[in-house]
Amino acid sequence: MLQKLTSVRFSYGQHEPSAVFDLRRLLGQLISTVAYCNLDATLLVGSNNQPNSTTNRPAILPASHWRSIPVDDNNDADSHLSESGSNASSTTSLRESLLEYRKLFGRTYHHELGQAESWLPNDEKHAASMELAHYAAILMTDSKLFLAPLDTNKSLKVLDLGTGTGHWAIDFADQYPSADDWSWPDNTFDFIYVRFLTGCILDWGHFYREAFRCLKPGGWLEHFEIGISWQSENPGGITPESPIGQMVQLFTEAGEKTGRTFRIVDDGLQTKYMKETGFVELGERDIHVPHGAWMEDATMKQVGIILGEALLEDLEGYTMYVFTAINGWAEEGARALTAHIRSHFKRPGLQAWVPRKVVWAKKPE
Ligand SMILES: C[S@@+](CC[C@H](N)C(=O)[O-])C[C@H]1O[C@@H](n2cnc3c(N)ncnc32)[C@H](O)[C@@H]1O
Repeated sequence: MLQKLTSVRFSYGQHEPSAVFDLRRLLGQLISTVAYCNLDATLLVGSNNQPNSTTNRPAILPASHWRSIPVDDNNDADSHLSESGSNASSTTSLRESLLEYRKLFGRTYHHELGQAESWLPNDEKHAASMELAHYAAILMTDSKLFLAPLDTNKSLKVLDLGTGTGHWAIDFADQYPSADDWSWPDNTFDFIYVRFLTGCILDWGHFYREAFRCLKPGGWLEHFEIGISWQSENPGGITPESPIGQMVQLFTEAGEKTGRTFRIVDDGLQTKYMKETGFVELGERDIHVPHGAWMEDATMKQVGIILGEALLEDLEGYTMYVFTAINGWAEEGARALTAHIRSHFKRPGLQAWVPRKVVWAKKPE
């Protein structure tokens, strides 16, 4: 039972990094408590059914007692727990309010609850774009799901933080079926994988320290992240005043306003914070990710086609929240700039690229 529950994949989505860990620890504790309660009850039933002479606790009836008497089905009719009971409407409204995502211009974003600031939509349209982004990410890392030198012959406990559509976790579980995921005490995981959480995390130092805590000694952390500083191979192709240049500024400002930087790659923060946290044996890969099919290399050409498609397919999904909810723009202006950005990306000969970086590192043995 315990094993079953802890191996459930939680889709928590919108929580603070600390809340993610705390929530998981809390859930872990609750689950353990249930398991221990069952264990206690079994021991009591098995050992002694008489009242406890020191505490005067009533006797615990054996399971056979409950098996021998019929269950009173009439209780369902006016139960306060049933859908037709008096609490039905408040249960329904509670459920509805929990599913009440923030809505902006016909798109849905994370819930108002808590302090989350996830700037991307969580609707079907954006999921399609993220799926393309997932396949492009795999292509640009040698068709591998990770670069850290993990020993995949062992049974592994793996955590995919900020899982999104869950494509990475599903692919990983398919490729390494012995891996067990989603449990959260200290020193638990062999591998923690983090991808594309730019603009979502308040304190990356704290985030890496938590990752360090949850890794087993000798375990690996890998963080694959997206930069924001779009460049053009064509001199003058992306100036600070151009639509893409303005987008870069607005994302940079948005990160400053929310305290959740979009510049983790651009400012070299992965390496800096991992070293500060105490990780060792750091490995890095810088990737120049093209928009469109202009790179010579066949794989990167494919990446450029897929990502060009993913970005333009849902450009509003990437820009609108940041421009309006964070930077305070009105819808009309935000849509207008987005239309210009789209057209800028399509400019012939632009040869645009953006930096991405994978950094992997080990918790000392
Ligand atoms: C761009 S998606 C990336 C999804 C996935 N990692 C991938 O690579 O496809 C960002 C995800 O991070 C989650 N997220 C946002 N803020 C978070 C936070 N503070 N802690 C953990 N996850 C967060 C979002 O709910 C969303 O699922």
